Amino acid sequence: MNNISLFITGPVIALALAAGIAAVKADPVDDTLTIDGKEMISRAKAPEGHPFDEVMSGWLFRTAETRALEADTFVNPGMLEVEEGGAIWNTVEGTAGKSCASCHGDAAESMKDVGANYPKWDSDSGRPINIELQINKCREKNMGAEPYAFDKGGQKALTAYVKHQSLGTPVSIDLGQGEMQNWWDRGKELYYTRTGQLNLSCASCHEANMGKMIRADHLSQGQINGFPTYRLKQGKLISVHNRFRGCIRDTRAEMPKAFSDELMALEVYVTWRGTGLSVETPAVRQ
Ligand code: HEC
Ligand code: HEC
Repeated sequence: MNNISLFITGPVIALALAAGIAAVKADPVDDTLTIDGKEMISRAKAPEGHPFDEVMSGWLFRTAETRALEADTFVNPGMLEVEEGGAIWNTVEGTAGKSCASCHGDAAESMKDVGANYPKWDSDSGRPINIELQINKCREKNMGAEPYAFDKGGQKALTAYVKHQSLGTPVSIDLGQGEMQNWWDRGKELYYTRTGQLNLSCASCHEANMGKMIRADHLSQGQINGFPTYRLKQGKLISVHNRFRGCIRDTRAEMPKAFSDELMALEVYVTWRGTGLSVETPAVRQ
């Protein structure tokens, strides 16, 4: 049992918390994340109405080895996929004979800071969209190309490439657009709803038990400023909705589909919970 559970830490944490097993409290590190000489904001004063006084990047909760991998883009393994995204950016696809670059030119200029302000309200679909869905929108509408299926094709690499152009920029979303506030409300409700056989909510772990060590895992605030993140365990980039689904699976609840209303509402709300933190894409996590 012990040997097996070492490899399935998520479910183990869920079981431990559901069973009320005491966990050790451990402070996040008092350290500054500097990526290629550029200082990141990994602690920020929380926006009004936030359950915490201070919002903290997940980077502060990781081991020294994992933290070091993120601080240098030459050793960050996620950068390979970001580079792949750069190649896709310049590749012509679809019936219109265009690449992303045909319209948007140099991403370092046209996409600078764009990723820090998503999700945004999309009046065409009447719902919030994230970078993944905006890319699909451009592929369909502007390129005559098929939208990417969830986590397929170049979706993660291209999303990471677009978000990386905001490295260091503080996360900030506009809840005044369209019906964003309603989606925020719905996301908040979902965040606090206990589900699954283990009867846990996002807040059970990332709020009530934030900062606790359960075996080798240090529970963070569950922020999404570093997504898509490179996970060492999986050896590849992991999208936000994949991460949400993984956490929901650990509570033994039914998982909503990627880009469903539920997960988009959660993304709006969880993004807001990280207001003021620098975009760290691609962050490195265990
Ligand atoms: C034919 C021109 C064209 C092509 C090709 C194109 N786009 Fe766009 N893109 C636009 C226009 C116009 C907008 C703004 C209106 C909209 O949302 O459709 C936009 C908006 C965006 C935005 C949102 C910018 C913001 O400030 O919120 C992103 C991100 C984006 N495109 C990424 C891409 C990517 C990645 C590709 C390649 C897969 C791509 N686009 C291909 C025309 C294009
Ligand atoms: C049983 C406990 C548990 C529950 C419930 C849970 N998570 Fe997690 N979550 C974890 C653990 C453990 C990690 C990995 C360590 C960390 O970053 O906290 C994690 C990581 C994350 C991360 C990645 C953070 C980063 O810095 O990359 C996000 C985002 C996240 N969770 C969101 C959620 C959301 C949203 C919910 C509710 C749908 C949720 N979690 C429910 C345990 C949980």
